[in-house]
Amino acid sequence: MRSTWLVMALAALLAASVAHASPPPLEVGFYKHSCPLAEEIVRNAVRRGIAREPGVGAGLIRMHFHDCFVRGCDGSILINSTPGHRAEKDSTANNPSMRGFDVINDAKAVLEAHCPRTVSCADIVAFAARDGAYLAGGIDYKVPSGRRDGLVSNADEVLDNNVPRPTFNVSELVKSFKRKGLSSDDMVTLSGAHTIGRSHCSSFTQRLYNFSGQLGRTDPSIDPAYAEHLKMRCPWPSSDDQMDPTVVPLDPVTPESFDNQYFKNVLAHKVVLTSDQTLLDSPWTSGVVHFHAAVEKAWEIKFAAAMIKMGKVEVLTGHEGEIREKCFAVNPY
Ligand code: HEM
Ligand SMILES: *[C@@H]1O[C@H](CO)[C@@H](O)[C@H](O)[C@H]1NC(C)=O
Repeated sequence: MRSTWLVMALAALLAASVAHASPPPLEVGFYKHSCPLAEEIVRNAVRRGIAREPGVGAGLIRMHFHDCFVRGCDGSILINSTPGHRAEKDSTANNPSMRGFDVINDAKAVLEAHCPRTVSCADIVAFAARDGAYLAGGIDYKVPSGRRDGLVSNADEVLDNNVPRPTFNVSELVKSFKRKGLSSDDMVTLSGAHTIGRSHCSSFTQRLYNFSGQLGRTDPSIDPAYAEHLKMRCPWPSSDDQMDPTVVPLDPVTPESFDNQYFKNVLAHKVVLTSDQTLLDSPWTSGVVHFHAAVEKAWEIKFAAAMIKMGKVEVLTGHEGEIREKCFAVNPY
């Protein structure tokens, strides 16, 4: 008799704890039964995208970063603005520089045909970021999945204490990543993504022509010959012109390969963004830069681990959020 009561009490306790259970964690292979081809479908869409536009792999890595830093990795960066409402996509941090949206929409269309309402847009972005790095020479790491899509996207939130600015100094960068639960080591490691892709001139012309607010002054931390080269590519006053389409490679030495060249560039003072060069300004981050420049394999492994960690920032799982049918809009029902 007593044991029956005990069993009933335990069952009640269990039911209560299930009802209040926190949402489940992400897991590798989340779609292995519900949509076995999910990751392959995304990879093929990324391949098609890169065939159309080689740099789009870099765009997809950056897209995951900007998604995760605003309301967590919930696909909020993908949502279109509507009349009277500006979404994250249209923040100056994303428009016009962010690329890869077409790849996500392409992947989603194929996924909806294979397994409707199953694979979240937030997971597509996480897979596509891994694929962008892998197809440029990075590690084919396993991406934990099971993210759900968010319902909210506000342009104002992007630069308001979330996505760091390219003018940040090292202490501002450390603080920005710390706010997302990422360490300064993660920050330096992930900055290595700037080994591929491009920057618009407007992200750094103040360093060439208006350093610390002094017209005509050039940031002395840029290698002089490289500064001259950049001035030819990026004439003043494009810093005021967000729409200037001129771009330069973030890694002038091996712009298309996912290698540790970025860290060698930081050491050689051949990087365009203040946020890259400033990594030498603290002894701790500078040490990490030296280490990554010296031991490429260590950086590759750390990069994969840091991407997995970033991919877990404030995620929605379980019954939170939704699975969007189209990545550019919340579901209409
Ligand atoms: C540490 C703070 C960071 C700052 C301030 C920063 C800033 C920027 C800026 C200004 C650009 C150029 C955008 C343009 O003008 O076209 C850029 C490009 C890029 N960023 Fe970052 N970034 C940071 C960290 C990261 C992280 C953590 C990742 C990913 C792990 C990342 C991946 C990329 C990639 C791949 C590109 C090239 C995009 C393309 O070619 O379309 N960045 N970043
Ligand atoms: C970084 O910038 C912040 C805010 O502008 C400033 O307070 C701080 O002194 C700067 N830190 C360094 C190391 O330059």
